[in-house]
Order: sequence, then C-alpha cells, then structure tokens
Amino acid sequence: MKQWVLGNKGYNRARIGLNGNNFLLANGYMGYRGTLEEYTKIQHTACTLTGIYDQLKGKWREPVNAPNGLFVKVYCNGKPVTVLDSNIKEHTQILDFKSAVHKRRTVLKIDHNEIIITSERFVSLHDLHLMCMRYSVSSLKNCEITIETGIDGDVWDINGPHLKNFSTRFNDNCLVLKAVTNEQKHTIAVVEGIKIKFGKHKINKRKKIITRLIEFEAEAGKEYTFSKYVSVFTTNDNVGDPVEAGFASIQNSLEQGYEKLLENHSNLWHKRWENADIIIDGDKKAQFAIRYSIYHLLAIAPVHSDKISIPARGLSSQVYKGAIFWDTELFMLPFFIYNFPQIARNLVKYRIHSLPGARQKAKEYGYDGAFYAWESQDNGKEACTHFNVIDVFTGRPLRTFYRDKQIHISADVVYGIWEYYKATGDEKILLEGGAEVILECARFYYSFAYFKKDKNRYEILDVTTPDEYHERVNNNPYTNRMIKYTADVAFETLELLKNKYNKVYKNLISKINFRDDIAKIKDLQKNLYISEPLKKTDIIEQFDNYLKLEDIDLKKLKSRIIKPNEYLGGPSGLATTTQIIKQADVILLLNQFKDEYSNQVKKANWEYYEPRTEHGSSLSTSMYSILAAHLRKTDWAYKYFMKTATIDLEGKYKQYVGTLYIGGTHPAANGGTWLAAIFGFAGLSFKNDKPLVNPKLPKKWKSMKFNTQIKGKRYSIEISKSKSKIVSV
Ligand code: BGC
Repeated sequence: MKQWVLGNKGYNRARIGLNGNNFLLANGYMGYRGTLEEYTKIQHTACTLTGIYDQLKGKWREPVNAPNGLFVKVYCNGKPVTVLDSNIKEHTQILDFKSAVHKRRTVLKIDHNEIIITSERFVSLHDLHLMCMRYSVSSLKNCEITIETGIDGDVWDINGPHLKNFSTRFNDNCLVLKAVTNEQKHTIAVVEGIKIKFGKHKINKRKKIITRLIEFEAEAGKEYTFSKYVSVFTTNDNVGDPVEAGFASIQNSLEQGYEKLLENHSNLWHKRWENADIIIDGDKKAQFAIRYSIYHLLAIAPVHSDKISIPARGLSSQVYKGAIFWDTELFMLPFFIYNFPQIARNLVKYRIHSLPGARQKAKEYGYDGAFYAWESQDNGKEACTHFNVIDVFTGRPLRTFYRDKQIHISADVVYGIWEYYKATGDEKILLEGGAEVILECARFYYSFAYFKKDKNRYEILDVTTPDEYHERVNNNPYTNRMIKYTADVAFETLELLKNKYNKVYKNLISKINFRDDIAKIKDLQKNLYISEPLKKTDIIEQFDNYLKLEDIDLKKLKSRIIKPNEYLGGPSGLATTTQIIKQADVILLLNQFKDEYSNQVKKANWEYYEPRTEHGSSLSTSMYSILAAHLRKTDWAYKYFMKTATIDLEGKYKQYVGTLYIGGTHPAANGGTWLAAIFGFAGLSFKNDKPLVNPKLPKKWKSMKFNTQIKGKRYSIEISKSKSKIVSV
C-alpha cells in the first residue's frame, strides 16, 4: 500500500511550496495544488485551468487560476484554528496515487483544547469540471465552532491579476462566484454546493469572496462532517452559460453523493493503472518514484481536448507561462503513445492546431514554412520573450535567444507526429493536418539552411541548441540530424500520401504550393552537413569550435559564481566561454539515433560530456541514464535514473534562474523516468510491430513488469534476471 501513497508526517512550513507541487490533484482540465484548505494565495493555493490564458498589459501571458472553491477555515470560540495560527500536535498529508485522492488529518491545540480536522478531496476524472471534498471537525472538549467555507476569488497570480468584474450570488443553496479575464473576456464561474446537517448558516459576501459561516456548539468527541462539491466552468468550454452549467453539475453531484462520485472517479484511475503501472520487485524506492512519475503524467494529461497540451510545469501553477515546450514531444509523449494512444493523439493534434502560429512565426523571422513556438500557448503563438531572464547583477532583462534560435523545436514536433503514427498506424492523423505540418517544417528548414558553395553542403548556422548555455552557435549535430530526420519523414509522408491517398496528396501539394519545394528539400536531405565523430577521440563536437572553449571542471566553474541564481548562459554567463553545458545535447543525439553510432562512439561521448554537464535542466539526467543503460554502465544508469525519478520528491531542482521563479512539478522528468525504465533498463524496442526487450536491470531489481501497446495490440512484459516473457493480452 505504501508504494501507492505519498505521505508527509508532521508539519513543516518550509515545505508548503514543495508540497503544493508534489501533492497536486489534476484531471487534465484543471490542477489543484496540494495545499491545505485554510491556505490562501499567500501559501500559493491555486486551481490552474488548461487552455485559458490571459495577459495584462506589459506582463507575461499565463494560464488563469480559478477562484478557490475548496476554501475552509475553522474557528473555535472565535479564534482561528489552522496550521498557520495554532500549535500543531499531529499532522499528516497524503496523496493516494492509485485513486488520485488527497487526504489530511491535523490535530491542533487551542486554549487547553484539541481540534481535529480531517479532509479528503479529489478532482474528478469522471466529471472534469468537478472537485469534491469531505471535511470533518471534532473537538476534545465542548466548544463553539464556526466553519467558514466557500469560494475565495482572491487568487494567486504570477503576472496577474487576471480576474476582474467579480460578482457573487447565493442561489438554490449554492454559492456562485463569477469573474472575467482581461484579454479574452472569458467568464470563469465557480459554483459550490454543500451537504451538511448541522449548524446555523450565514452567507458572507465580500468583493472577491463568498463563504458560508456555519456555527454550532460542538459536543466533545463528536465528529461533524460535511461534503462539498465545486464546479468550474468557463466560456472557453462552450457550454452556454457557465453558471447554469455549474448549477446543473452541483445539483447532480448533490443527488449522487460523495461516495458514488468518488467511486466513479477512482474506478477510472484504477483502470488507468491497469495499463500504465510498472511493477518493480526488489527496489521500493524506485517503485515508489516510478508510480509518483506516472501519476503526475496521467493527472495532467488532456483527456478532453485536442486543443491543449502539457505545459512544462504541468498544472502545478502558472510558472513558465503555462507554456508547452519540446518537453512534451521528446519526454512525455512516448509514455502516452505506448499506453494511452488517444491522449497521445490529443497532444499531437494540439501541434496541428498550432500550425498557423508556427507559420506566422516563420514569416516574422523571414523564413518559409512552420517555425514552432519555443513556448507555445493556446493559440500556438510564440509566448517566449526576447528577454527571458533577469540578470541578478543589474536587475535588467537579459537578451536570450531561445525564441529566435532554438529551431530544433519544429523537428521535435515532427518527431512527435511520426512516433505517434509509427506506433499506432493512425494514418488519419496525417490526413487531418499531420502531413501538412511535416511538410511545412521541412520547408522551414530549407529556408533556414545555408548552402556553403565552397564545401558543397548545407550548414545550419546561428542556432541555440538543447544545451542553451551556448547561444548562436553553428552546426549542432542534434539540430542538424533532426533536420535531416524531418526531411526523411517529409519524403516518407509524401510517398504514403501519393500511393494511398493520391487525391489528398494532390490537394495538399497544391494547397500549400509545395511542388517546387520537393527538389529543394531533397537537396537539403542529401547535402546537409552533420558533423562526425573525430577520428582520434570519437568525440562529436557539440558545435563548431566547441572543443576550443575553456575546458574547465564543473566544480571550478561553480566556484566562480558570485551571486546565487546567476545565469550561466547568455552573452556573459560563466559557462558561455567554457565547455560546461546545461543539459544533454550530443547524448540526446546518440539516444535518438542509436543505430547510427557504434558503442565505442557512444561510450567516448558519454564519458566526455558527463563531467561537463551541469544538469541545469530537468530534461538532462534521463538521457544520461538511457545511454548509460545501453552501454551497460548500469550503476551510472541507475544513479541518473533515480535523479530523474526523485527530482520533485527531493525538491532538489532550480527554483530560480536569475530572478525568475521556475519551481513547480517536472513532467519532462516524470516522462524521462518512464523512458529510462522502459527504453533504458528494459531495453524495449519494436520489430515488425512486435515488442522486443534487451534488459539491463539495475542490481537491486529482481524483476520488472509492465504493459505496452503497438498498433492497437497490447502486450504484457515480464523481465527477471534470468528470463523475459512477452505475452499478448
Ligand atoms: C530547458 C529546456 C526546457 C525548458 C522547459 C529549460 O530550462 O533548458 O530544454 O524545454 O526548461 O522545461
């Protein structure tokens, strides 16, 4: 049971932020942070919505947080009884991954009395607009208790306030709080209903908050329990009046009751686990961390819409502008492709819907085709600013080139579409816009590439690479190889359409006027320069002249840091003039194109880049783990695997870059954990649409069991030290 439960015993104020992330409840429509019911925006309570963004003039555009309908505060003889105001005798907070249920139990001391608070809540997977909670209070002695519960509209915003024109209402025994966003004038409506059989009730309305005050004489030892149902609807949901939709949902919830709603919700989660669980025998810590990772991936997956994707910090807050990065395609999508293809399809379709934004960006920079947003939001338009980091020395914004130069993003999008297509055989995705995206990305790269006449080859100049600390460099092998990959995929797509869907092929070529591009992209595919391992050392240079940079020890570089959180990249960062890199780059190339490089080359590069990598991004360690497993450096593979798998649990990640807060959950690391377990330790691959394994289990792991699916067929895979079994199920 323990391996399904994240639990904290005792209360620690310093962990409020971390717990808010780690104990997150979410259902793809909204994410509710793992905060306690008495918390407010000060403790970063947030109910972050997907697909609805807002911008205040001059500030960053970011997702909207809905008013908090789960607010509860208890008073005893007029004094507040909360973890923030009272002495805490006992406190436990629990997140049960299996059913996606959050629980707390707190014993608080006040005036020689003890008040016991317990709550259980969930964000329904069965009804995505619904959150439910059961809350109980009891007192050791007779006393006068007041419970204040309702909807708190004074929400936490990073670049807000995003909500205005608040209005509150009490109708049909429901509380209603409505507000409007600045930019798109979306209405956000929260409706709350309650089932309660005790106390005198009063409604308390203020500008941004509406609550009920429930007063009663508590008898010693008696438990007073109520249940609460909260719905969130917006005008983005196309449900007509969001308040009316809220009323209907709450009436229905009150009729069904907490137990039934919980059953509906947890049954769906249990079903998810039947597909997705990985069972490890012999390593409780790894087992727990894997389940933690899978839970977080599933919680934030868009089940209901193909117009949204997964932001880099999931639904844990507005951090990173709620933007979608390449993290989704490279690190998270494979988990969904091989376990939940329908969700994978939504993620892929999101990029198809974003094509207009990508075309617009290419045009803005003077290129053809589709240049995807480095930070993408609801409309696929670029959310990344030119000045994305604040210099800690001057307080001034630093010019960064993620937006302008990290061109591998378009190839990563193509990779996502193609991986999905290959594993599912879903040709429709290509007809529904996937093919168009692929061709437009290939076209973008042709217009970006520089043909060097003297060398008779195309080079890719002036780019920012996955590493990020070295901006505006030339001929990064990952970027160049991914461009070649894009061209390869473009021709496979054209072949497929031509042979099987000739009419579609003709229409598409004429619609996007692609006839002349075919020969150009062929030329690019044939003559694109991709740097090779150096003869003597087998090292693949991360970019032209990388090896001429100062070769410094990472510790020594860190000893040069003057101020905490100073940015190591950019024009004058400490790493910029050295070989220290932020994250896996050549190692990523070697993982993606495993079959094209010998083990000798892979080993040489792993050993060269590993000590030079800062792992300043949560995307890095999983890649080192996978390649290490492949090279049978199993101890290293395990070390990097555990780093990835426990990044949130241990909270050992960067909270700030410059002055920018970047804390939150790390879904790319959650996806990386899954990748490292499945493609690293189990060594899963596919041949003729059948799974194969090549296990390199860590020493402690006696066995590993998981499911996978390809082209609609499911397989159960069991690996032990002595044998492997693959059965079709
Ligand atoms: C990493 C990027 C990543 C982004 C969002 C950055 O720190 O360098 O590769 O896409 O964070 O996770």
